[in-house]
Amino acid sequence: MKKIISINQKLNNFKKKNITVDGDKSLSIRFILFASISKGKCVALNILKSEDVISAINCLKKLGIKIKFKNNKCEVFGKGLFGYSYKKNLILNAGNSGTTARLLTSILIDAKKKIKITGDASLKKRDMNRIIKPLSKFGAKFQSKKGKLPIIINGSKVLRPINYTENLGSAQCKSAVMIAALKTFGITKIKSLPSRNHTELMFKNVLKIPIKTKKQKKYELINIKGLKEFESFNYKIPGDISSASFLIVLTLLSRDKTLIIKNVNINPSRTGIIDILNLMGGKIKFINKKKYKGEAVADIFVRSAKKLKSIKLNPKLNSSAIDEFLLIFLVASKCKGISIFRDLKELNKKESKRLDWGLKILNLIGIKTKKISNHGIKIHGKPELDLYKKYEIKGYLKDHRVFMTSIIAALTLGGNWKIHDANSYKTSFPNFLKILKNLGAKINE
Ligand code: S3P
Repeated sequence: MKKIISINQKLNNFKKKNITVDGDKSLSIRFILFASISKGKCVALNILKSEDVISAINCLKKLGIKIKFKNNKCEVFGKGLFGYSYKKNLILNAGNSGTTARLLTSILIDAKKKIKITGDASLKKRDMNRIIKPLSKFGAKFQSKKGKLPIIINGSKVLRPINYTENLGSAQCKSAVMIAALKTFGITKIKSLPSRNHTELMFKNVLKIPIKTKKQKKYELINIKGLKEFESFNYKIPGDISSASFLIVLTLLSRDKTLIIKNVNINPSRTGIIDILNLMGGKIKFINKKKYKGEAVADIFVRSAKKLKSIKLNPKLNSSAIDEFLLIFLVASKCKGISIFRDLKELNKKESKRLDWGLKILNLIGIKTKKISNHGIKIHGKPELDLYKKYEIKGYLKDHRVFMTSIIAALTLGGNWKIHDANSYKTSFPNFLKILKNLGAKINE
């Protein structure tokens, strides 16, 4: 039976709390993948134990990599750049995880035997041509129907470095090319629109790979020299700002609350949500800032907002908030005035068509929206928005962020909500409901 959650009450209970959120998903998946091609035992603390990360782990186990959990520790026994061992016609299932499917395909670019990569119903709808095209330039051979999963990797005998321009602003595409570059003799040159830079920081500060990066006005330039094996390493994974964002918006849209979320990754390529919420009238601060292996980490301090104002968002901020737009739309629905967002084509390429789902949720709660040119939307905010009717959310391809945004809407706006596919959040934020209950939320499972 599919689980449904019902919520019939706003969150009222807490005044001030300190919490932590689960480990960062992008960093956890990168740790597992890079550890598997390092030379020896790598240990991560606070790794995210979500379905996406488990999918990555299961794929690597099938490639002959030993991975163990001991309490809060994850140990991965790397076998070097060319050390995977596997049977003929292997099938790897990346589940719901686009990052796993795309980054793993690039690690396997030199596969000597055929490997099939597949995923769940949502992942099978997503575009893989965006990595098949650049990875083919390296000389690898792939088979797929219409650029979707399943993909068959036929590998290649000779791989060559490439020059590549990444024009989607996708960290997954950029990272796929960076990883494939590790397997070639020579220098791969990438010109990329800005996107999260965890792979660059790990290559530079943790794996010590010969890499040069330079920021230009429009593009970031990355040069990578391949074929350098790297030593094993340890990593402490900070909290995920994308998970923290649900609790930030919960606090912002509730009354008289203060929340401190400890030890969160605040890499500037991920903090667009904070910049945007502060432009809308939030007063969110970073405290106790630190650097860890090139990544910025801090505690996030947020208070309920008294007044929120609409925004005409500069699309330059889109990429650093790419996973948070459903929450941003929800905040816009409580703002005075009309908010405008543009250039959001990539949102409909996520686990579900998120731009469409954002509009659906807003329309359901009585907010006027309009699609505008250049994949944009207009949202007519209502500061007095207070719900009392029945609302049901279903058929959203189990997109974890649609599920969690609906929960935050229910807990901040009121009304009687039924939200289907109630296990969706386990993809990225397994402690989500537990944290909300600890804050006093009444959630009926
Ligand atoms: C991710 C990059 C983003 C993001 C995804 C994780 C990553 O996707 O939406 O949740 O870890 O590199 P794109 O690179 O496709 O924009």
